[in-house]
Amino acid sequence: MSAPRVGRASLQAKLHITTLSRGIKSKARRPAQSTYVSNTKYFNSTSRPATNYLPSTKTSQPQRQTPPKSELQRFQGRIRTEQEATQKKTYHGISPRVLTFLGITALTISTYTGYLYASYTREVSKAQSLDVPTDVSDRYNSTAPTFDAEVELSEKAMRMGTKRAELVRMARGDVLEVSCGTGRNLEYYELGERRGVDSEGKGVIKGCRTLTLVDLSPQMVAITEEKFRQLRPEFTRVLFRAQNAATVPVEKPLVTKTSDVDTQGAREDRYYDTIVQTMGLCSMPDPVATLQHLGSITEPNRGRILLLEHGRSYYGWLNRILDNLAPAHADRHGCWWNRDIGAIVKESGLEIVEEKRWHFGTTWKYVLRPRQEGDKKA
Ligand SMILES: C[S@@+](CC[C@H](N)C(=O)[O-])C[C@H]1O[C@@H](n2cnc3c(N)ncnc32)[C@H](O)[C@@H]1O
Repeated sequence: MSAPRVGRASLQAKLHITTLSRGIKSKARRPAQSTYVSNTKYFNSTSRPATNYLPSTKTSQPQRQTPPKSELQRFQGRIRTEQEATQKKTYHGISPRVLTFLGITALTISTYTGYLYASYTREVSKAQSLDVPTDVSDRYNSTAPTFDAEVELSEKAMRMGTKRAELVRMARGDVLEVSCGTGRNLEYYELGERRGVDSEGKGVIKGCRTLTLVDLSPQMVAITEEKFRQLRPEFTRVLFRAQNAATVPVEKPLVTKTSDVDTQGAREDRYYDTIVQTMGLCSMPDPVATLQHLGSITEPNRGRILLLEHGRSYYGWLNRILDNLAPAHADRHGCWWNRDIGAIVKESGLEIVEEKRWHFGTTWKYVLRPRQEGDKKA
């Protein structure tokens, strides 16, 4: 027998002796257990000298010994005891690890809430100390180059693209967009007239025959024009003007008389078929007068004014926040975000064809038309 083999054999012998003695001890401790009886049998039937358990040195590798059952039982017992101890340590069945996680989360949230509240109260006192004029529309001259980048994320989060598209696709005929800003609606216009059917199946002319885009800020108009030339270079019946929406005249792009679509008789050159405005009422000093003027240049029968605006919410708590921070927001961004759009529309005297609100009621959609002569008298 080589030296390592001798070492292994004596080690195994020791192992068995230890196992044996453990088995005997456990027997002494738990005499009533039936499984123990079978273990005892095992030990009794094999109570030969330890060397008898050794594998033949000649034959091969040592065989793996099945651990005596008492060992297994002791191991299972220890696991059970540990599990019971862990359960005893829980609070209402929640483990300490989960409790620690919840504690840290609660602490983080409360710290952050405290920070937000402190910042909010600081901003409110700063905002209330400002003396901001009602007309803040000049702010857009300086913010025009960064406007798109500033609003992009919030517009995406609020899915404003879908709302703009839904509104602007209704534009037809000779179209005027006021307060066009950086031309965020351009991609949604159906340019060029075509025959179609309305919701009642009647034949109608759809799409824009001409498009006129105006904004008070020349910087904004320049950005819109550049965007349009890149986006829709094929459409030439378009005009860009730096003009006030409150006084904008009817000036349409020149169109040759032989239109590719029969436009059902002569058009009134005093009116637009559709006037679009998105996020504009918040920026003008007299939104009611502006709407009234727009009503006066909208075709009286089938003409429509399409609005997508932002302003007061349905909720008092949110309106308080908007009110408290309004002067600072207006001073910085040129927009009074706490206006009651519904009240402005009502005061304008225009007829409401459709009204919708989203985002806690702060986003307002309106389809308006000039009030009919008969209705005005009533
Ligand atoms: C909040 S931005 C909205 C821009 C764009 N309509 C949009 O939806 O992104 C308001 C725009 O209204 C323009 N504006 C403010 N007062 C105006 C007025 N009286 N007439 C025409 N445009 C005006 C500003 O120059 C600015 O471009």
